Amino acid sequence: MQDVAFAALVHGVYVVTTRVGEKVNGMTAAWVSQVSLHPLLVTVSIAPPRYTHDLVKESGIFAVNVLTSEQVDLGKRFGYKSGRKVDKLAGLEWITAATGAPILRQAYAYLDMKLVSTHAAGDHTLFVGEVVEAKILRPEARPLVFQKTDFF
Ligand SMILES: Cc1cc2nc3c(=O)[nH]c(=O)nc-3n(C[C@H](O)[C@H](O)[C@H](O)COP(=O)(O)O)c2cc1C
Repeated sequence: MQDVAFAALVHGVYVVTTRVGEKVNGMTAAWVSQVSLHPLLVTVSIAPPRYTHDLVKESGIFAVNVLTSEQVDLGKRFGYKSGRKVDKLAGLEWITAATGAPILRQAYAYLDMKLVSTHAAGDHTLFVGEVVEAKILRPEARPLVFQKTDFF
């Protein structure tokens, strides 16, 4: 059944970023979805062992950085190592969003959010954020669509 879900459900590839004080981090996520129009709410599904899970819980803010079709490498950079061990943002250009979350300058777009609710969902937690700022940074590019063959 998992194989069918992987093959049949279409997802983008995103870097979910957050900040606690001076500590900034980001992780790759495919399970991201808009869930309300008014207010504009977006959910990100994050497994509890991720460092980002702890940081979003603590900070109450996060941003979704939308990768471009040319940025599988960035998806790997943020998706295979934990920010507990490495500074994944080091050497990348980033700016600070309204909430304080870091935004990758080279992303296709970003949505900056304040956390409004959390929901346990099996082995993941759904973090629901209300969008406070959103921008397309590179209108000439195309968002990356998740394909298993790109990553596994
Ligand atoms: C393409 C791709 C998609 C991913 N999607 C998710 C996801 O939706 N939710 C999740 O919890 N982890 C997801 N991951 C795994 C995390 O990105 C990975 O465990 C990361 O190292 C966590 O970093 P952190 O410990 O710094 O938070 C994905 C990884 C890849 C490569």
